[in-house]
Amino acid sequence: MAEEFWWKKAGFFYFLARKSHFVRYVHEAFLKRVDELALPKGSKVLDAGCGDGNVTFPLERRGYEVTAIDFGDAVLAEGEKARKRLGIKNIVFEFGDLNNPLKYADASFDLVTSLHVLMKVKNCDFAIREFFRVLRPGGHCVLSITSSHETFSHWLWRYCKRNGMLRGLWDVRWLIAWGIPYVLMTKKSERRDEWRWPPEELGRHFAAAGFTVLLTEEVPYQHVGCALGVFKKPE
Ligand SMILES: C[S@@+](CC[C@H](N)C(=O)[O-])C[C@H]1O[C@@H](n2cnc3c(N)ncnc32)[C@H](O)[C@@H]1O
Repeated sequence: MAEEFWWKKAGFFYFLARKSHFVRYVHEAFLKRVDELALPKGSKVLDAGCGDGNVTFPLERRGYEVTAIDFGDAVLAEGEKARKRLGIKNIVFEFGDLNNPLKYADASFDLVTSLHVLMKVKNCDFAIREFFRVLRPGGHCVLSITSSHETFSHWLWRYCKRNGMLRGLWDVRWLIAWGIPYVLMTKKSERRDEWRWPPEELGRHFAAAGFTVLLTEEVPYQHVGCALGVFKKPE
């Protein structure tokens, strides 16, 4: 099965991976960087590759109006179900493929967020240029990707050596619950084909699109291999 098909039809399984504290830690580090921008309530946000709304709902709770796009029907349906259940008005979930031009006018958003999506996007530099286009001058982008080429098994070995085998396996149980069907169902070649940039390289791609690089960092928790960046479109 092509990985794209997996994300489109079975992306909601990602909720299992998110139970793992590594993924939650990246999520918290990401929202901390968003909060540092201190954007006013009512700011317009594009959450690109929103999944079922992992970041979308916390952004809405901060008073922002969020347009949340993904190319996965299943995750969009989950997000929309939750939005309706919670009676939220300031989120729109809609289809959007980051490999193609976005339908939004120039300078439509104050902030673009994207948590762990860009490494999967084939035309990643095109997507970054689209983020630049739809942001207003002075607008920001906060984004994370996988940064390391280390395979999961190598990383797990290193982690278990540091923390003990039992504790290590217990810590990654949710990641493994998600990872087994993912690995069985998708093609190894495509999984290996992801863009994985260290923070400096992430910065170079955004600078090439015209952004000012405010910050790039490796999220430091047990080195899970995550690069986070905060970028600004010049005024
Ligand atoms: C690792 S999940 C992250 C989802 C969400 N941001 C979160 O933190 O839970 C990656 C998401 O990127 C989406 N995605 C991958 N390639 C995409 C593309 N070309 N256009 C839009 N969404 C894409 C997938 O459908 C999936 O929901």
